[in-house]
Amino acid sequence: VIVCSTKAVTPSPLGVVVQTRDVPERIGSLSQVSGVLGSQWGDEGKGKLVDILAGHFDIVARCQGGANAGHTIYNSEGKKFALHLVPSGILNEETLCVIGNGVVVHLPGLFKEIEGLESNGVSCKGRMLVSDRAHLLFDFHQEIDGLREHELGNLFIGTTKRGIGPCYSSKVIRNGIRVCDLRHMDTFPQKLDLLLADAASRFQGFDYGPNVLREEVDRYKRFAERLEPYIADTVHFVNESISQKKKILVEGGQATMLDIDFGTYPFVTSSSPSAGGICTGLGIAPGVLGDLIGVVKAYTTRVGSGPFPTEILGTDGDFLRLKGKEFGTTTNRPRRCGWLDLVALKYCCLINGFSSLNLTKLDVLSDLKEIKLGVGYRLADGTPIKSFPADLRVLEQSIVDYEVVPGWQDDISKVRKYADLPLAARRYVERIEELVGVPIHYIGTGPGRDDLIFK
Ligand code: GTP
Repeated sequence: VIVCSTKAVTPSPLGVVVQTRDVPERIGSLSQVSGVLGSQWGDEGKGKLVDILAGHFDIVARCQGGANAGHTIYNSEGKKFALHLVPSGILNEETLCVIGNGVVVHLPGLFKEIEGLESNGVSCKGRMLVSDRAHLLFDFHQEIDGLREHELGNLFIGTTKRGIGPCYSSKVIRNGIRVCDLRHMDTFPQKLDLLLADAASRFQGFDYGPNVLREEVDRYKRFAERLEPYIADTVHFVNESISQKKKILVEGGQATMLDIDFGTYPFVTSSSPSAGGICTGLGIAPGVLGDLIGVVKAYTTRVGSGPFPTEILGTDGDFLRLKGKEFGTTTNRPRRCGWLDLVALKYCCLINGFSSLNLTKLDVLSDLKEIKLGVGYRLADGTPIKSFPADLRVLEQSIVDYEVVPGWQDDISKVRKYADLPLAARRYVERIEELVGVPIHYIGTGPGRDDLIFK
């Protein structure tokens, strides 16, 4: 680890003077506005990197998704925190967190998360802002998420049933309710009534009466008061912070292969977890974006339905699932596991223009005799597929070309220097860099904050 000392003595947004601290050069040189984005099908371990970087940024912001993200973070005392809506930066006392306009906010869940953090000594008051433009996700959105999945039968998407898709649908169909609407309780009941009536007209299993509406309005009156200290025009705040030279880290949820436009549609999420989503979800100009770090697991996992070309169905798949603890943070669902898919990764690098990658969970691959890398797709007649296909039928029928590389048997979980990794592990890392054309600057060797190699 190359360490340089940065004299960070400017007041933080909380007015606290940040102490001089030793910052690995890699982190110290990240751009003023940087981002951490998933580059597979989610659960790559973005939360850990964000948490490590957060201490070196003034602001950590979320720009898309909602409580379907499930970041698991261990603080320096090894305490486990599962965050869904609150940005991972919250564990760093000096960091201010922003929930941007592109996020869909379920207030009961947000307050539960805030309470959980506060009972563990992590204060959110004065340290978190929620965009007045963000859309509200109601309990009924979750209910109809389940109804829609049920309706689809065998073709279900495999959503987290957190209501994300239905809430974004309300937003796009233009009858959604935004955070700023909480300030107008005179018109709020009517808006909610329209929203509920729309859902009731569409879903047979969904019904609501005047009591439900009244109770929900009362509940939201209380939420509105509780949320008031957190509400802000975050577009203005973020842009003003940029002009004040504050450092901003954008924390992506989900991943490009789940992007509503670029993912394996329709088995995707309803937002844009790729680079474009940063601009639309925070209200910042593309030219302001600097370093974007793509987070990629040393193998591949996917939750829910949809094509997964490099999936391993046999015992090697079980090995990865058990060793990598591949069970969802939000739903506890077992994740499907497979080899690293470089066709998909290259496609993600192309869309996002990643400046570097964070290869996570390399430790999970220890003990495998050999490791496969998915390096190309072919049609059944042997024709190579040049880029990641849009057509799921093509994707399902495509044959993956693998490159087989030797594994390593050593436990690498305590390794902190790149040079100390077994030769086979270094070759694996370097082969990925070579095939993808993007440098791997961070390598995860365990779940803890310190389990990271700066390359
Ligand atoms: P989403 O936003 O839902 O995609 O979450 P995420 O990308 O932040 O993933 P998550 O927090 O679920 O991380 C996956 C799990 O991997 C967590 O339990 C992390 O602690 C763990 N993890 C992260 N990096 C490593 C690593 O390098 N090695 C090991 N063994 N575990 C890791």
